[in-house]
Amino acid sequence: MSVGIEKVGFYTAPYYIDMVDLAKARQQDPNKFLVGIGQKQQSVIPPSQDVVSMAANAATNILSDEDKQLIDMIIFGTETGIDNSKAASMYLQSLLGISDNARAFEIKQACYGATAGLQMAIDYITLHPDRKVIVVGADIARYGLNTSGEVTQGGGAVVMLISNQPKIIQFDGRSTFYSKNVMDFWRPGYTKEAKVDGHYSNDVYIDFFNRTFKQFLQKFDLTINDFSALTFHVPYPKMGIKALRSVAGEDDPSMESIWHEFHESIIYNSRVGNLYTGSLYLSLISLIANSDTLSAGDRIGMFSYGSGAQGEFFAGILQDFDNSKLKHAVDQIINNRNQLTISEYEAMYKQGLIDAANTANDLSGDSSRFVLKGRSDDKLIY
Ligand code: CAA
Repeated sequence: MSVGIEKVGFYTAPYYIDMVDLAKARQQDPNKFLVGIGQKQQSVIPPSQDVVSMAANAATNILSDEDKQLIDMIIFGTETGIDNSKAASMYLQSLLGISDNARAFEIKQACYGATAGLQMAIDYITLHPDRKVIVVGADIARYGLNTSGEVTQGGGAVVMLISNQPKIIQFDGRSTFYSKNVMDFWRPGYTKEAKVDGHYSNDVYIDFFNRTFKQFLQKFDLTINDFSALTFHVPYPKMGIKALRSVAGEDDPSMESIWHEFHESIIYNSRVGNLYTGSLYLSLISLIANSDTLSAGDRIGMFSYGSGAQGEFFAGILQDFDNSKLKHAVDQIINNRNQLTISEYEAMYKQGLIDAANTANDLSGDSSRFVLKGRSDDKLIY
């Protein structure tokens, strides 16, 4: 019985800012952002995009009509919910034309939501091998203008089709997890901007990675050398570097290839920024799209982290997968974004904080297949 990722899609909005521009505007040394944080660019999400439209844009080019009939579950991981009651998956189901004979719901646990969905999907396909599940990780990361978290903003969506034809990655259900009630990052119901105890959140992340990774090695009798690559939830690239450093010395010759693959795994994240629930999966896309050295049968470790906090480590086996189409699609999305000045970004950011109830969104400049048009009678229109 095999189960895993059959197809994967990615979307981010058609705007970005350069981190050198942001550093200059905030009177910071650009190297703090480029080297200290590891971020080069950051996607900016306009009011014409929310988690539903971004997920629909990520999914639209990967699902065939046959897939849509075979999908039994639409699991939407997000911490940027568009309604306190109705799940984002209901809109996605109708926008994509997925069968009505499906379970459709949303999962929230900070950046961990999509991993909870993925594990549920793996279990479901194991029991129902002739069906398919889609798992979404879509978010907009907002900390506020002129805050220390601003350089770690971003947004976008990753959609994975899980089935018994794992053409990209196969999973075996083995994972280790750890959770604890901590206040490292959270977002009270009244605000669109996150609250964060930044340095503490770094420490909790490293602690949870070490616990789950070491438990995984012990439980399944493995060593770090059994992995060809380790991928991470990437709130910002330096966070992944810190985590990998805690188990693999950068100067250790035996760790050279794991560091090489790690750098492939942050190429896209360093240009898009934090996707929260989608960040680990964008990092996985970055690795498999950009690495020329991985091959079928390689074991890829994956660390998922959701503040609050939940950590999980699991692994997948890379399949004989031609990455050229995926690389072309993701490169195009990222390379074709329009660069904004910092004042244009600030204006767009402020617009995104206002609930555009009963007003139409300005769609000029956003030619994405799916857009949020606005609200009518308190109902969202796409
Ligand atoms: N040249 C090179 N490096 C420089 C530099 C320069 N001129 N100036 C500073 N640096 C380095 C610092 O030495 C530091 O490096 P180390 O971390 O290796 O020590 C790095 O730049 C950052 O500097 P500071 O720690 O002073 O930065 P800061 O106080 O402004 O905050 C931050 C950084 C805590 C990450 C902040 O951006 C933040 O709070 N971000 C949001 C929280 C976050 O992403 N946490 C991650 C774990 S939680 C999680 O993963 C869930 C999630 O998605 C949010």
